[in-house]
Amino acid sequence: MRLFSGTTYLVTALLLAVLAVSPAGKSEAIDRAELANVMQTIPPNGAFWKYGTLEMRRKTKKAGVTSVIFPHWSHRARYTCRVCHQDLGFSMRSGDTGITRSQNVSGKYCGVCHNGVTAFSVKDGRVRHCDKCHTKDTKALEQLFESFSSDLPFASFGNGIDWSAAIKAGKIAPLNSLNTGLPILPLPDKLKVPMKLGTSAARSDVIFSHEDHYFELDCSACHPDIFNIKKKGTKAFNMENNIYGNYCGACHMRVAFPMNDCKRCHPQMGGSYTP
Ligand code: HEC
Ligand code: HEC
Ligand code: HEC
Ligand code: HEC
Ligand code: HEC
Ligand code: HEC
Repeated sequence: MRLFSGTTYLVTALLLAVLAVSPAGKSEAIDRAELANVMQTIPPNGAFWKYGTLEMRRKTKKAGVTSVIFPHWSHRARYTCRVCHQDLGFSMRSGDTGITRSQNVSGKYCGVCHNGVTAFSVKDGRVRHCDKCHTKDTKALEQLFESFSSDLPFASFGNGIDWSAAIKAGKIAPLNSLNTGLPILPLPDKLKVPMKLGTSAARSDVIFSHEDHYFELDCSACHPDIFNIKKKGTKAFNMENNIYGNYCGACHMRVAFPMNDCKRCHPQMGGSYTP
């Protein structure tokens, strides 16, 4: 059973104290009360298995069938984000794709893999797997998560799994393409150097690594919709907007490790925050 580790429960006061120590030569930290207000808006993490697990009901609701439960954690262990969000055309906005039963049955979207060969089929027949996706009772899925996650490196938030470490340690090896053998283009050398995100915000010590992300995502996942390609060109790029699910938060509040895990993005910060 994965539970939150007690050490990650840092009190706000401690966190803010860490932030308030202003190194010489740097601009002042943002107002404490203001920052505290921003941090209060971080939603609670919830159960690890639920993070990134979507309830899809745009079509099912109208059709009067049980909504679909889609777990990112099990799928991202098998495939990189690129496979679904670039190659297969799934939107990164919940409900946006508008997947229908007839598309699935004709081999689009879920049906690309859920064809009875790669994974259990969406089709009707002698053996029906409808309730594996149209799931009323999630007990089996929760149990699957327990065994799935038990051997993976721990992180305090999100799925309770350090996904980057899991890949580096070879514990999971997500496929980068359904046409195995098709290599992805190499990352241009210029982008191999991690870049310091220099916004006007105080305490902006955030380092962004293109290389860390390129393993999972193509350029078009971020440019130009989420980030302007010109360095420092992204407007109103601050923590508040991140927490509301913009910018880094487009992934790092929903599927990738969430904003609570301060020090993974702000290496100079002491810890983490749980509301
Ligand atoms: C691999 C997962 C999966 C399986 C298996 C599956 N479905 Fe679905 N089904 C979906 C998804 C995803 C949607 C769209 C959900 C949404 O956004 O509301 C959907 C939608 C539907 C809808 C809504 C109406 C429509 O036109 O889209 C019906 C009805 C439906 N499925 C019936 C079935 C039946 C019957 C079976 C079994 C024979 C089945 N499904 C198996 C994933 C699946
Ligand atoms: C097997 C396919 C698959 C893989 C792999 C996958 N996703 Fe998704 N993702 C989906 C589907 C399906 C949706 C829902 C789309 C819809 O509702 O229109 C989704 C939705 C999302 C959303 C919106 C969630 C929300 O709560 O609003 C984000 C963000 C996202 N994915 C990020 C990622 C990232 C990052 C990765 C890689 C670590 C990834 N996905 C891997 C299929 C996948
Ligand atoms: C890129 C391939 C791929 C796509 C696209 C895909 N799946 Fe899967 N899915 C798999 C594989 C592989 C398995 C595990 C094999 C099996 O159980 O037959 C799986 C298993 C599942 C499971 C069982 C739990 C688990 O992870 O073992 C559910 C539920 C599921 N998929 C739902 C969906 C839904 C809903 C969609 C579309 C929104 C979808 N999948 C799209 C490959 C995919
Ligand atoms: C996960 C998101 C993400 C992905 C994927 C991504 N980028 Fe970026 N990129 C960023 C961010 C964030 C910045 C900085 C934006 C800012 O400072 O406003 C940036 C900046 C850049 C810059 C400006 C660099 C500089 O030093 O001025 C270039 C060029 C660039 N990206 C090219 C690419 C290319 C080419 C790819 C695909 C190989 C790619 N990016 C993939 C997030 C991403
Ligand atoms: C399009 C989705 C997406 C966006 C946007 C995005 N990331 Fe990520 N990021 C990921 C995924 C997926 C991982 C893999 C780890 C995980 O899922 O928890 C990751 C990993 C990381 C890591 C961890 C690397 C490691 O080895 O531990 C850092 C740090 C990071 N991102 C920072 C950022 C920052 C800062 C931004 C905004 C400038 C950003 N990311 C924007 C998807 C995204
Ligand atoms: C996924 C990466 C990521 C995580 C996790 C993260 N931040 Fe940020 N943070 C950013 C980015 C990006 C910026 C804005 C860009 C910059 O200032 O360089 C930022 C800016 C800030 C700022 C400057 C003021 C502002 O509003 O822009 C503060 C203070 C801050 N973060 C605190 C935190 C705290 C506290 C946590 C943990 C609760 C945290 N951050 C977690 C990426 C992250």
